[in-house]
Amino acid sequence: MPHIVETIVTTLNRDGSAYIAPLGLIGEGEHWVIAPFTPSRTLDNLRANPFACASHTVDVRLFAGGVTGRKSWPTVPATHIKGARLAQCVSHWELAVDRVVDDEQRPRFVCKLVASESHAPWSGYNRAQAAVIECAVLVTRLHMLPPEKVEAELAYLEIAIAKTAGPLEIEAWGWLKEKIDAWRQNKGRS
Ligand SMILES: Cc1cc2nc3c(=O)[nH]c(=O)nc-3n(C[C@H](O)[C@H](O)[C@H](O)COP(=O)(O)O)c2cc1C
Repeated sequence: MPHIVETIVTTLNRDGSAYIAPLGLIGEGEHWVIAPFTPSRTLDNLRANPFACASHTVDVRLFAGGVTGRKSWPTVPATHIKGARLAQCVSHWELAVDRVVDDEQRPRFVCKLVASESHAPWSGYNRAQAAVIECAVLVTRLHMLPPEKVEAELAYLEIAIAKTAGPLEIEAWGWLKEKIDAWRQNKGRS
């Protein structure tokens, strides 16, 4: 199985502003692979400026926000590459694209790690954070999963939210639930 780390990836738009998207980075030896589906802004940005930052944050609103249209978060310039990272993060990686493996559906940007910096102590595992990240992935797959599977996974993840969520996880969960409620209504299931 590949080693995949769920991160907040920042690329630069053509006007130099930062663009934020949650993406899973795939570890391949010394490299990290960014694999955005087509079409996507992250993909276009990487082709125009082959650098990215991957920020590691305990604020899971970034993951929920990234899939519910809330993509505006404070960033600061990267130190070693033409890029930007999250202003609030535990640590971040600065990545430069080494080579691109083209694919019609999902090109792979094979990146070398230029720098890695720490900014804050890591505060440990929390089940509600993991549940929010899982639910954010679920939200991106609503159109391709059987409704019963969506409802079953949601019911399971909700247990961790009920038991361990703090204010950030509750807010993130609310955004995801809104999206799922809209999907339910579109299916006439509410
Ligand atoms: C935890 C997590 C991991 C994700 N990993 C990927 C990924 O590897 N590739 C991808 O294309 N989208 C991934 N997504 C979905 C993207 O974040 C989402 O589709 C985003 O809007 C990308 O499109 P954009 O660059 O046009 O914004 C992931 C979402 C989450 C919540």
